[in-house]
Amino acid sequence: MVEEVKPDRERFATYTVDVSDSGQVTSAIEDIGKRFGKIDILINNAGVLHKGMIETSTDTHMQLMVNVNLMGPMYCTRAAVPYMKEKGGNIINVASILATFPNTGSGAYGAAKAGMIVLTRVWAAELAPYNIRVNCYAPGVLNTPMAEDVIKNRAESKLCQIPLRRFGETDDAFNLVSFFCSEEAGYITGQTIGLDGGIWATQTPTAAWKL
Ligand SMILES: NC(=O)c1ccc[n+]([C@@H]2O[C@H](COP(=O)([O-])OP(=O)(O)OC[C@H]3O[C@@H](n4cnc5c(N)ncnc54)[C@H](O)[C@@H]3O)[C@@H](O)[C@H]2O)c1
Repeated sequence: MVEEVKPDRERFATYTVDVSDSGQVTSAIEDIGKRFGKIDILINNAGVLHKGMIETSTDTHMQLMVNVNLMGPMYCTRAAVPYMKEKGGNIINVASILATFPNTGSGAYGAAKAGMIVLTRVWAAELAPYNIRVNCYAPGVLNTPMAEDVIKNRAESKLCQIPLRRFGETDDAFNLVSFFCSEEAGYITGQTIGLDGGIWATQTPTAAWKL
């Protein structure tokens, strides 16, 4: 069900939507498009990570990972594009380091997030004629509820994998999204940027630190 929770219809509207339900997504985005006349920016940020090894993963687990992390962005983008085509816009996808540098137990999630990297490139080409740019970032460990367990219980070992030796903050994501949407990034589309403190950069991530 689409639920409106803020009353100022002139400037703000929030909706509670299950992105894996195409009917809810379509109805919410149509309402937004009609109310505001256009959509400038779509951030496909909703995501969920539950670990599961292939032998013991249930259908429910696998479907949840794919439906929220991959189908959800497809439903949102399909619904938003008609409201972006006239004036152009930006679509930002959120992948994960687990798409390209996976862990055991992250198969379904990582495969869905790898799909986001492919979709970023395909949509960039499909939507370029409308001046809709499509870019993506792939977080390593960002300080949000999703990474709470890692940051609380395994911080030291995790930091040893990160050359910049700190976890990402939501401002790091905000800054990158702002750049993607800015005129300065007007010739950039179809790209995925790691937002991971350099995890991917080297086999010896913290060798230069005097620890
Ligand atoms: N935090 C990290 O370390 C990290 C690392 C890699 C990728 N990511 C990705 O970053 C994005 C943001 O995650 P976060 O770190 O803020 O995690 P989070 O768990 O704090 O937030 C995820 C948000 O997605 C929403 N969500 C989950 N399922 C949904 C559904 N079916 N419909 C609508 N909304 C739904 C949740 O309500 C929540 O607000 C996600 O796509 C996640 O996969 C995060």
